[in-house]
Amino acid sequence: MLYERRLVRRSQTAEQQIICNLQPYLARCNSFCSGAIKIFNISPFFAHSNCGMSIAKTVVRMEQTIRQLRRRIFMKTLESLFLDSLADIYYAEKQLVKALPKMAKAATHDDLREAFESHLGETEGHVEKLERVFEACDESSWSKRCPAIVGIIKEAEEMISDNKKSPTINAALIAAAQKAEHYEIASYGTLRDWAKQLQNEEAAAILEQILEEEKNADQKLTGLAKTHCNITAEIGEETGQPLARAA
Ligand SMILES: [Fe+2]
Repeated sequence: MLYERRLVRRSQTAEQQIICNLQPYLARCNSFCSGAIKIFNISPFFAHSNCGMSIAKTVVRMEQTIRQLRRRIFMKTLESLFLDSLADIYYAEKQLVKALPKMAKAATHDDLREAFESHLGETEGHVEKLERVFEACDESSWSKRCPAIVGIIKEAEEMISDNKKSPTINAALIAAAQKAEHYEIASYGTLRDWAKQLQNEEAAAILEQILEEEKNADQKLTGLAKTHCNITAEIGEETGQPLARAA
């Protein structure tokens, strides 16, 4: 990743600078200390620590600085956390592109099927929008396996097979889809706020657009559940048409 490469470069530069600064000391003490190292068979560290030119302290400082920089390479920052989470939701959206046609196929209510089909189009758009977010961060797009969406989709598949040919199928599909939506809403809300914190206004604006579309899709599902799918699930019959009775 870009930020890690930057830290590696900084670590290498710092190391080179410290070694460079040491050169004059090493040149001045070299004849005495290397003689002592050879004659008395002592360690270079011990020899230099007694040469009176603070080389030992400098070496210790150099080692500490390098250790700190190396630790920072593996330390998370808000930028790296943001990119990891972006890769997670990018993976999630691509999985949902595969799952939504199966959910549309399983729906027995026309409006619900249409809602899944229209959200499939939006989800494909989300994949493209996320690629623009990566670009806004000077990164090429990459995915990170998201165990949460894998679990949500697996559960959705189980719910479809458990409720197949039953009047509860549409209510079950809405429940499964809303679990995915709520995961996405939580993720996009956080990502938008982190982008703002990182002063990446372009990324924040795109993430805000996706968040709004996810919220609208969620509200649409709530509406369908209340006006039709929960009712047909309760009364035990599927008419395929909107019902007059609303919750
Ligand atoms: Fe989405």
